[in-house]
Amino acid sequence: MKKMIIAIDGHSSTGKSTFAKAIAKVMSYTYLDSGALYRGVTLYALEEGLFCKNGRPRTRELIRQLNNIQLTFRKDPVSGENRTYLNGKDVEHNIRSLEVSDKVSPVSEIPEVRDFVDKLLVQWGEKKGIVMDGRDIGTAVFPKAEVKIFMTAPAEIRAQRRLDELLSQGRPATYEDVLDNIRKRDHIDSSRTKHPLKQASDALLLDNGNMSVEEQMDWFKKLMKETWDITLP
Ligand code: DC
Repeated sequence: MKKMIIAIDGHSSTGKSTFAKAIAKVMSYTYLDSGALYRGVTLYALEEGLFCKNGRPRTRELIRQLNNIQLTFRKDPVSGENRTYLNGKDVEHNIRSLEVSDKVSPVSEIPEVRDFVDKLLVQWGEKKGIVMDGRDIGTAVFPKAEVKIFMTAPAEIRAQRRLDELLSQGRPATYEDVLDNIRKRDHIDSSRTKHPLKQASDALLLDNGNMSVEEQMDWFKKLMKETWDITLP
């Protein structure tokens, strides 16, 4: 069977990574989380003091320092899942903090940061047999991806899901803060000049507001059967 690129884009906290990981498993593909790279750059900027008092990134300085940032994924030998490394250090936990979530959108707006991340993604995608999630994978990074899915759900449902996830990880957060963060990210992601979040004309829409992961997987398996005549277990 010919290996493909499966691009999954959509709004924040729509469960893209859960869905993409489940697809990677059933297809025996590699899952790559493009948002982790933007989060890695943001964590670097936080650690190096590259934010102004008003919360905006010190753009020129960050661009100057992009060469100092080395981002890689390494497979966790126990879970088999990729973990994100920043300059040789495992930052998988730190890049998921609310502080990084709060600052990542303005960082991902910077065109030079997008070029930096895109270059890594394209390199990793060359081998095919990958499932990649993000905001611009089907529109900009892999416009020729064989399968494109655009995920969305009402902001309130996404906020509740994200809150449950944070609390289950022992990270304190309130519903109001999480909803506010999601709305801000939606706005920034959709309105930036370079590679804004939008549904590719050939992407299939998946509104999973009322769908379980199992139902989403049934939807995907039906899609693969109908479009590619691939029967998945
Ligand atoms: O998927 P995520 O929430 O981990 O992504 C973090 C941020 O990175 C998100 O606010 C938007 C940005 N992002 C992006 O601009 N383009 C991508 N391909 C992936 C993420």
